[in-house]
Amino acid sequence: MRILLFSGKGGVGKTSVAAATGVHVASLGHRTLVMSVDPAHSLGDAFDLESALFHGGTARPRPVADHLDIQEVNINEEVKRHWSDVTAYITKILKTSGLGDVEAEEIAIFPGMEELSAMLYVNEYLTNNSYDVVILDCAPTAESLRFVSLPTTLDWYMKNIFGFQRRLMKAVRPIANRLSPVELPPERYFQNIESLFEKIAGIDAVLEDPHITSVRLVTNPEKMVLRETQRAFVYFSVHGLTVDEVIVNRVLPAEIQDAFFDGWREAQRQTLKNIDTYFQPVPVRRIPLFRHEVFGMERLQLLAGHLYSAGEDPSRVTRTEVPYVFSRVDDHYEVRLTLPFAEKAEVGLFKKDDELIVEIGSIRRHVGLPTSMAALAPAKARFEGRMLVIEMRSVT
Ligand SMILES: Nc1ncnc2c1ncn2[C@@H]1O[C@H](COP(=O)(O)OP(=O)(O)O)[C@@H](O)[C@H]1O
Ligand SMILES: [Mg+2]
Repeated sequence: MRILLFSGKGGVGKTSVAAATGVHVASLGHRTLVMSVDPAHSLGDAFDLESALFHGGTARPRPVADHLDIQEVNINEEVKRHWSDVTAYITKILKTSGLGDVEAEEIAIFPGMEELSAMLYVNEYLTNNSYDVVILDCAPTAESLRFVSLPTTLDWYMKNIFGFQRRLMKAVRPIANRLSPVELPPERYFQNIESLFEKIAGIDAVLEDPHITSVRLVTNPEKMVLRETQRAFVYFSVHGLTVDEVIVNRVLPAEIQDAFFDGWREAQRQTLKNIDTYFQPVPVRRIPLFRHEVFGMERLQLLAGHLYSAGEDPSRVTRTEVPYVFSRVDDHYEVRLTLPFAEKAEVGLFKKDDELIVEIGSIRRHVGLPTSMAALAPAKARFEGRMLVIEMRSVT
């Protein structure tokens, strides 16, 4: 199975591009699913489905063409399916603090649940070999990053905190529940989390395998949008995912000759040039601004026609360069991280147990070290072109 993850700033055209890619890939005969992970779903709208304003019919995969299904993960349904014991507990606590039933239930849906629910589906489709290609239409950059960082964050939580909390609760619950103003989480709460964690086991390796997962960044030829795209590129790399394509949407077509757009055209020309050099060697594709919105099958096909040549397979693996490489050099080891545009001053390196922690801006990533390197600490870091090279040496 191939996973194509479309991310980018809000409004740049992620949903349109993801949907059009789905249409194209399905037309090649691959069993394809386009899945919306953005809580503000608009995938159904892109296909111009005659459904209610607030969806429901697409909470599970719904066929829209030959070989093509779409799905919009519905958090309320997922909560019932996967999270009942966790939310039951949190709702109870919130109600103790005076919230009404409905509010408490709403608030008990916390950040990450949506992403995790989507991940449960991806893993399920992978295990059951349900699709050849799963296309993820992600929420804007920040939430997409939460999505891809979830497995490692959870892994860290499960390793370092979960077991302790659970044992502690077991020990103190009988007495503490008599004293505590709120009830402590019951054993079922922990069982629920544990079983969910088991269900996404292995997904981090899937996301970091460039033979399975590729990130495609959608952007516009505008300076501000480009800056967010550059940050996204770094962040995805830090999380170990491979970006194999940048798609610039809404390029002004040459046929617009109105003087009003002169300034726009010049700015776009400059930004397009910058985009090409910045992301090298990652290929950049362009889509023109159309005369109309992109919705409905016909227009999605039109978009796909601009994006891919006939018969071209967007699910083909083209870049397998992983963002991380561990290697031995003479008397020490090195971690090599592809980090275009990162400036040294922004990079923080720490070591905790057998993990190297890389901090860039507000993003933090735990890199599990291979056993041979687990006892080493970062000694020095330098940039070789766009590559951050971290020297690892023994601490003695
Ligand atoms: N190349 C384009 N030309 C004209 N309209 C476009 C183009 N790409 C996207 N749109 C329209 O722009 C709006 C936002 O696109 P959408 O794909 O929903 O963005 P995102 O998912 O990134 O928020 C939609 O109404 C869509 O139809
Ligand atoms: Mg969207």
